[in-house]
Amino acid sequence: MTAAVDTRPSQKARTFRLYRTLPRLLKDPLKEIEQIGRLSSGELVRVDFGVFRAHVASHPDHVQHILRDDAANFLRDGTFWRPLHRLFGDSILGEGPDWDLSRRSLQPVLTTRHVNAVADRIAASINESIAALEPGASIDARAEIGGVVNRAVLKVFFGDKISDADNDRLAPAFDNIATAIAFRFLLPFLPESVPVPGDRAFKKGVEEMDSVLFSVIGDYRRRPDDGADFFSALCQARTAEGGEVTDRWVRDNLVAMFATATETTVGALTWLWPLLDSHPEVAARLYEEIDRVVGGEPVGPVHLPRLTYTKQVVQELLRLYPVGWLFPRRAVRPVELGGVSVKSGDTVLLSPFLTHRLGEYWPRPLEFDPDRFDTSRATPASGRRHRYSYFPFGGGPHQCIGMHIFNIEAELIIAGLLSRFRPVLLGQVPERPRIGATLRPRREVEISLQAV
Ligand code: HEM
Repeated sequence: MTAAVDTRPSQKARTFRLYRTLPRLLKDPLKEIEQIGRLSSGELVRVDFGVFRAHVASHPDHVQHILRDDAANFLRDGTFWRPLHRLFGDSILGEGPDWDLSRRSLQPVLTTRHVNAVADRIAASINESIAALEPGASIDARAEIGGVVNRAVLKVFFGDKISDADNDRLAPAFDNIATAIAFRFLLPFLPESVPVPGDRAFKKGVEEMDSVLFSVIGDYRRRPDDGADFFSALCQARTAEGGEVTDRWVRDNLVAMFATATETTVGALTWLWPLLDSHPEVAARLYEEIDRVVGGEPVGPVHLPRLTYTKQVVQELLRLYPVGWLFPRRAVRPVELGGVSVKSGDTVLLSPFLTHRLGEYWPRPLEFDPDRFDTSRATPASGRRHRYSYFPFGGGPHQCIGMHIFNIEAELIIAGLLSRFRPVLLGQVPERPRIGATLRPRREVEISLQAV
């Protein structure tokens, strides 16, 4: 046992004194977090970092209460959001009127009908990227798939309003930011005056990204159109008073959307290759389905309804590796949750990573088994599954608005790649992720692409 534990009957919340094991926490934070998940088995617990305390809620009833039933009482602000606020400002990732305006402005371009309409463009971009891959080549999966995702996402976001040159500057700048922010995300209570590794890279990445985004926004303001991409929807938004939104607001939302869309999608897909390598029976079923449905054609939305096993693989991938693994909330009013009193101002941490591994809801929780999501074989056990025992995309008013885009993109990329190549993993990848703002593998995932 690693974390220091004691029981406080007065408030019934078990406390994990993480400051006592700080060196171990810093070395392998996820190990400590998994330990807390195992020991708490769904109870609301408290983690104590010494200078900062929070509750951890993993039981699906508590998750549902916080994200959906009592969402107005659990806001996205407080210590843990501070480093992200530096990056996203007051945008779709905030709360209050700015969030409301952002969500309302983006909603029309994110409906199933609209996303289905852009699916052809996403497929065309993915096919073009895949056609450029050489059979026999060894690739760094994160970087290469990252390129495929970025190009597809930027098409959806900007239509044709961003040049290839700007695109090529944006993606690496953002990748640097995502890596550099990890320390701040893990130690959010450190004041900004205390320097941490990554600060300089973060600043440089933000400058580079801002110079591209403000220039594209300026171009749009000079030559506006009625395009139905995310970018145009944001630029055309009107404030409550009917005025034009500021360039800063558009920029903050673009950064927030870009972060949520690319880092998560790339992160999730990177985990696929080690999982297929260690589960050849899953890989064989996936190849069989893709060969049968896609064959030698370019992959397209027309194939998606028949890629049922591919869908299950993606769902199970996000159960084991829910890349948005931790999202905090701050209680406005005091409440009782599972017999534990949560005070006004307290932080509650939600983690799909912990909930998705609760044995009570997920038998053999550590096993990768896409058949859990086979709806044709619904067992009494899966019929009883709690809606909030699986929440890789959150829930309630802040539920991910990119879920449908992600599913289309992920299935098209997997089917497109595997219809042409059999990936062979080079080297071992540890099962346990490295954590930052998202879950990343501990080392690069290198694969060799063998022609089918
Ligand atoms: C594997 C892929 C993805 C995962 C795991 C994921 C996960 C999440 C989660 C957990 C939340 C809820 C955050 C909270 O409640 O505080 C969220 C919100 C959000 N996601 Fe995603 N996401 C993914 C892909 C995408 C994509 C592709 C887009 C954009 C096209 C996107 C855009 C957003 C936005 C804008 C929000 C904030 C919504 C709001 O607060 O109103 N996400 N996502």
